[in-house]
Amino acid sequence: MINKNLVRDHFNHGALYYDRYAKIQKKMAERLSALTKPEENLSLNEKNILDIGCGTGFMLLDLIKNYPASSITAVDLAPKMLEVCRNKFKLDNLQLVCGDIEEIPLKKKYGLIVSNAAFQWLNNLSQTLTKLYSALSTGGVLAFSVFGRQTFPELRFSYKKAADRLGLKKPLLAIESFPLQEDFKSLFPESRIRVEESIETEYYGSALDFLRAIKKIGAGNNVASQNILLLKEAMKIYDQEFKEEGKIKASYHCVYVVLKT
Ligand SMILES: C[S@@+](CC[C@H](N)C(=O)[O-])C[C@H]1O[C@@H](n2cnc3c(N)ncnc32)[C@H](O)[C@@H]1O
Repeated sequence: MINKNLVRDHFNHGALYYDRYAKIQKKMAERLSALTKPEENLSLNEKNILDIGCGTGFMLLDLIKNYPASSITAVDLAPKMLEVCRNKFKLDNLQLVCGDIEEIPLKKKYGLIVSNAAFQWLNNLSQTLTKLYSALSTGGVLAFSVFGRQTFPELRFSYKKAADRLGLKKPLLAIESFPLQEDFKSLFPESRIRVEESIETEYYGSALDFLRAIKKIGAGNNVASQNILLLKEAMKIYDQEFKEEGKIKASYHCVYVVLKT
């Protein structure tokens, strides 16, 4: 089970650093925006738009530009993330709501529901997707990106090797319960769902720099083990095994889903 209080606290701390460090999430937002542009012929009734886990507003930037006549609601669990949005966007047609999307009732119908890089923090993805799908108006679209199960293979390899060396049990990292395509594909008819995926690579000075960058944006509890000895050994192995031209690499599995009613 995901501890939502911890997620909220971490993202509250990450809010100030997020725009500087969240490079992959920015790239994902660009791709998701392209998939939900009016020119994509989604035949949307885009009067009401919902952005879930809006963070500092990577998606909002494009939604505001692409849908100037729509009323946009942005939800996030972390109040500090919403504070950043409040300072960035001063618009009458934008409503910021603090809450957990798994808990809050959706009273309106939406022509477009988007979420970038947030659904890996949900306890019950299928239940939430079903709830969101039923909040779509006729012709509506639900489009989201999420980190997939093949995220950070280098880190998982390093932990496994470190655990073997130290005679410990390999820790179960949160990345190992990131969604599989089956988690959402089976819920909807094949003709209504479009899925694409990519592997994005980011480079860091060292494994520790990588971990620090993840922690800075509030996503640290996905990657760190509580056992310091194991963590140190895994970082050593990561640096040895995955260095390319003086930098270590980290691979992100990015999954994009567009669902039509
Ligand atoms: C990795 S950030 C992505 C932020 C933003 N969508 C972007 O494009 O950069 C994940 C965001 O989802 C929010 N979040 C996590 N779980 C949530 C939940 N259950 N309900 C609403 N927001 C949530 C976090 O507070 C955080 O701001």
